[in-house]
Amino acid sequence: MSKYIVVGGKKIVGETRVHGAKNAVLPILAATVLNGNINVLYDIPRLSDVEIMTKILQAVGCRVYREGEALVVDSSGLNSHEVPEDLVREMRSSFIFLGALLARHGSVKISYPGGCEIGHRPIDLHLKALREMGAEIEEKHGFLYCKAKKLRGCDIHLDFPSVGATENVILAAVFAEGTTIIRNAAREPEIVDLENYINSMGGKVSGAGSANIFIEGVNELHGVQHRIIPDRIVAGTYLIAAAITKGEILLDNVVPDHMQSVLHKLREAGCKVECGSNQIKLVAPDRIKSIDTIQTLPYPGFPTDMQSQMMSLMTTSNGVTVFIENIFENRYKHTEELIRMGANIKVDGRIALIRGVEKLSGATVTSKDLRGGAALILAALAAEGTTIIESAKHVDRGYDHLHEVLHALGAEIRKM
Ligand code: EPZ
Repeated sequence: MSKYIVVGGKKIVGETRVHGAKNAVLPILAATVLNGNINVLYDIPRLSDVEIMTKILQAVGCRVYREGEALVVDSSGLNSHEVPEDLVREMRSSFIFLGALLARHGSVKISYPGGCEIGHRPIDLHLKALREMGAEIEEKHGFLYCKAKKLRGCDIHLDFPSVGATENVILAAVFAEGTTIIRNAAREPEIVDLENYINSMGGKVSGAGSANIFIEGVNELHGVQHRIIPDRIVAGTYLIAAAITKGEILLDNVVPDHMQSVLHKLREAGCKVECGSNQIKLVAPDRIKSIDTIQTLPYPGFPTDMQSQMMSLMTTSNGVTVFIENIFENRYKHTEELIRMGANIKVDGRIALIRGVEKLSGATVTSKDLRGGAALILAALAAEGTTIIESAKHVDRGYDHLHEVLHALGAEIRKM
């Protein structure tokens, strides 16, 4: 079982480039099955989640290979509609293949994605919307058997602005009869990237980034080249690495506009933050200031994927901060590990109360999920002494060689 070993107390200082966004790459990789052609994708990070999506694409007959700094997906050989069960269970976000395969193939067999470390992750909104579009979906023995001769465009209202449900409907609607409208759609930047990708291959999607998205069905799509947007969560994680170690950092290849809620909270915490068109510079204060409340909300609110990293920062602040996790019901697993490092945290349901301490102390801790693992690494950078973070594999899902990036910026960190 791989682990990180961190000797705390070293400042994070320097400049680094942010890699492509995991949560843009995953739906775009699913979308490559739509055009039955060559897809050349740039800035694809080396993540275990990307590896799983690659295996699924190969399992349904696509050719996938790296060519220089590009990842190429040739979906002309698509010959199966069955998404391998073990891969869906290993990575639930592969459920995003449902909409794309249904659009391209007209039938899909895919296992129920099930829950994960941060919550039970229902898919009711996905299924309700696809059924409204005319898909016949049978659920038995843990599998979903879906078929649709021709999906029909319709006016869909999502009860919650679910990112995955919005993406699955967009993908399913690309070849549908007529126009599909998604109301109360998720507004994340990764959905705008998916819209741009589909339009560059000949699709007709508009409105992504707003609450209403329109997809006009087309008959065919062509090959495409596309560069993935930068990962706003990885960028926020790097910024907090500098903030928690009293350092300073310059990020290249970022979109400040995608991170305004996070930048706002970092400024409230006393950090000096300056933005260029595709750069962000942060200078940390001597002592992080506590923030009254941080609550996670759908975009453009404060992202749930930054909650645990921000909590690590607040454990060393000069006062009390209240976190409210509104998106997932089980996303505080990092708190007991932070307490082992000397943090003062009280959790009650979706509320976590953080009372800042002068110093954290190194300990042996275990990462329970992707962002919680990143949060423990951040805490370890600031802690006195050595911290061992076990189950490093969670972090590999969403960060491309995080330990190498931090080491290059001054951290004493190894991965074993
Ligand atoms: C995406 O997950 C991201 N994953 C998550 O990032 C992110 O935390 C989440 O959006 C919220 O921003 C990818 O993009 C691959 P949702 P997704 O559907 O699509 C409820 C990370 O760390 N819901 O917006 O699964 C659900 O229970 C990961 O990179 C339903 O009730 O999130 C949750 O409470 C973690 N019914 C809320 O919506 C449904 O049918 C948000 O879920 C679907 C969702």
